[in-house]
Amino acid sequence: MAIYGVLLGPPGVGKGTQAKLLAGKFNLTHISTGDILRDAVNKRTPLGLQVEEIMKSGKLVSDDIINALMEDYIKNLNDGFLLDGYPRTIGQATFLDNFLPRYGKTLNIVLAIDVDDEEIIRRLAGRRYCPTCGRGYHVIYDPPKESETCDNDGTKLIQRDDDKPETIRERLRVYRERTAPLIDYYREKNLLEVVDGSGSIEEVHGLVLEVLERKGIVDKA
Ligand code: AP5
Repeated sequence: MAIYGVLLGPPGVGKGTQAKLLAGKFNLTHISTGDILRDAVNKRTPLGLQVEEIMKSGKLVSDDIINALMEDYIKNLNDGFLLDGYPRTIGQATFLDNFLPRYGKTLNIVLAIDVDDEEIIRRLAGRRYCPTCGRGYHVIYDPPKESETCDNDGTKLIQRDDDKPETIRERLRVYRERTAPLIDYYREKNLLEVVDGSGSIEEVHGLVLEVLERKGIVDKA
């Protein structure tokens, strides 16, 4: 069975990290709305110019913009996928429920990663990325070999604009108000699996694999 999954959870919990590991292992398409929007901002496209200030403030881009973008991405996929950062509101979740069947697809898993706020702040404050190749790091938990430079190309690592302390607080507030209700939404649809995200990257990956195997979505290793 292919994975048609959503990764849910507060900012910095490790959704992108786990999505990349799963996508590599199972040859899935990893769709991160945050990465798509940041790329648009960097390239100064009309979409990027429209969303830049909203993203810097830690608020959400409007459902209309995001839903149109995601339908365009997902409709042409033939294999499994992992959605990272979408849906993020009840409006986005109901839109996804309505459009997936039109393209012959249905979600089969929603993985909610759970970590306390103190650890989230540590993860976001220490996150760095390479502006050349996009690879992500953490200064303590997943450091580069040479201090603050990318292992792939030697570029100096930088911090995301929205990983500053005041924006992190706003992103957590927005998460609780707009995105956390999706936990009950997907629990009622019997799609939700909560994973303890407090361990190391490898430990969390192991827990995610256990869930996917138990649900019969991937074969046992
Ligand atoms: P987005 O990029 O989606 O940000 P986010 O949800 O806030 O998530 P992050 O990317 O910050 O964190 P993550 O959970 O992926 O953690 P990561 O794996 O990097 O969205 C950014 C903005 O775009 C939004 O604020 C909004 O404005 C807009 N947007 C995006 N989608 C939208 C939508 N659907 N609707 C409206 N607006 C939208 O890990 C974090 C760090 O921790 C890394 O350094 C990593 O190395 C480290 N780490 C990960 N796991 C572990 C572990 N187990 N132990 C130790 N360290 C770990």
